[in-house]
Amino acid sequence: MGNFYLTTAIDYANGHPHIGHAYEKVLADVICRTKRLQDYTVHFLTGLDEHGQKVEQTAKERNITPQALCDSVAKEFIDMCGSLNISYDDYIRTTQTRHKTVVRDILQKLFNQGDIYKAEYTGFYSMRVERFLQEKDKVDGIWPKSEFGEVTEITEINYFFKLKEHKQWLIDYVTAHEDFIFPKFRAKQVLEFLKEDINDLCISRPKDRLSWGIELPFDSKYVTYVWFDALINYISAVGYGADNFSKYWPVDYHVIGKDILVPAHSIYWPIMLHALDLPMPKTLLAHGWWLCSGEKMSKSIGNVVDPLDYAKQFGTDAFRYFVIREMNVGQDSNFSHELFISRYNNDLGNDLGNLISRCINMLQRYGDGTIPAASKFETLEQELIDLWNRTRLQVLDAYNQLQFHSALEDIFTFIRAINKFLENRAPWKLAKSNDIEDREHLHGTLIVCSEAIRLAATILAPILPTTSQKILAIFRIDRIEWGKQLEWDNRRLSGVQITTDAMILFPRIA
Ligand code: ME8
Ligand code: MG
Repeated sequence: MGNFYLTTAIDYANGHPHIGHAYEKVLADVICRTKRLQDYTVHFLTGLDEHGQKVEQTAKERNITPQALCDSVAKEFIDMCGSLNISYDDYIRTTQTRHKTVVRDILQKLFNQGDIYKAEYTGFYSMRVERFLQEKDKVDGIWPKSEFGEVTEITEINYFFKLKEHKQWLIDYVTAHEDFIFPKFRAKQVLEFLKEDINDLCISRPKDRLSWGIELPFDSKYVTYVWFDALINYISAVGYGADNFSKYWPVDYHVIGKDILVPAHSIYWPIMLHALDLPMPKTLLAHGWWLCSGEKMSKSIGNVVDPLDYAKQFGTDAFRYFVIREMNVGQDSNFSHELFISRYNNDLGNDLGNLISRCINMLQRYGDGTIPAASKFETLEQELIDLWNRTRLQVLDAYNQLQFHSALEDIFTFIRAINKFLENRAPWKLAKSNDIEDREHLHGTLIVCSEAIRLAATILAPILPTTSQKILAIFRIDRIEWGKQLEWDNRRLSGVQITTDAMILFPRIA
């Protein structure tokens, strides 16, 4: 099916993982898993953004070297990926030689081409966001302290990357390429930004102000501005300049949060690529924000959710389920403990978990643990089969449109329909009868229920990989690949001896 390359933002090495980081990795992971199951050759890149003033400062406060700080933070973020079952193929750290070499090569190339120039600049600098501010950053005539912190006027000689002259090209590109930005409504924000003049980008920091960065290849008194360095990770990690680079580039999705779409990913990055004569990313996927009781999560408010607590306490899949079910990709969403528990108990515990234990129980009691041969089907069976055929198409479509919350909605409607089917068929009554027709119905019920569960587990695999595996193991299926496996088949499971006599997937939380 071809190659598929996806990246996430690389997280800043000056903080701890929180739900925003966790969500982004889970979202990216779900997308990659849907692609692998559709037979794409997937390359999934994530990593850590290690340079810049904040890292240097935090390290100084803690009396350790910046590299030591990065190493300890890298461990935390890599552990988070492990706890969330993130199937990344590569983890890039911007202090790695493979990255620094490419950044320097690119700087030299752009400098030689005349895309980078030296100039004196007087401007207002925010240490918090590590850049010179512009008039358009102002709200009600001032640069909000909450966003920019202390702002100071400085005059400095620096290097600049030419952005201005590519403005019209970028406007045309964004306008002509509908799929460049997801969700589509965010393209407006980009075009809005481009309505006014844009300044060239200051890409250097004098070493006496900041030393923790990649030294400019053409002036050893300066290091590279952290965003210019960081964005390049997307190409340095897949061998920019090497032969098989075109196997990966252009990237299919840059998964990022909405706060870093403008200007970094939608202005700087496309123009950098354009200047390098490289094709544009296919899609910038800007997801929304996790809020707590409607407020932005922040350390000072003290409402930062530690995702690892939830994953540890309630299971990795429960966490993955919650964030994917609650977030409509591109919108914001609210995290609340009550909502988490209610989703867990109702959807995972009652609807899915109970169904599995019920089914195992029935197969043991009424079939000695062996799934019977297909039998006579009537309307109830046919209705469930029809519902599956619709569900499968809807869900695959939703997966491909990044509508994961609605995919889950459809899958759980199907799961509830299996429960309903069992109630209607009442196998416990059929089992008491000696009537030959009742026997046939009982067998039909058992196989239809097993097959429906097999299908639900197979299509849930990208979101609940561990749960899906556990369920399929009941039926002795150990490899999942979509295609034929998503088709209803009454014979597939017949004669299979199930592997367990009890399974509690999501124990109830009181
Ligand atoms: O921005 N909800 O790193 P970062 C959802 N190093 N997503 C959130 C979030 C929240 N509450 N908070 C943060 C950086 N994110 C840069 C990226 S890429 C070349 C460099 C998202 O650690 C945020 O939008 O501040 C970003 O996509 C990611 O987490 C890392 O944020
Ligand atoms: Mg941030």
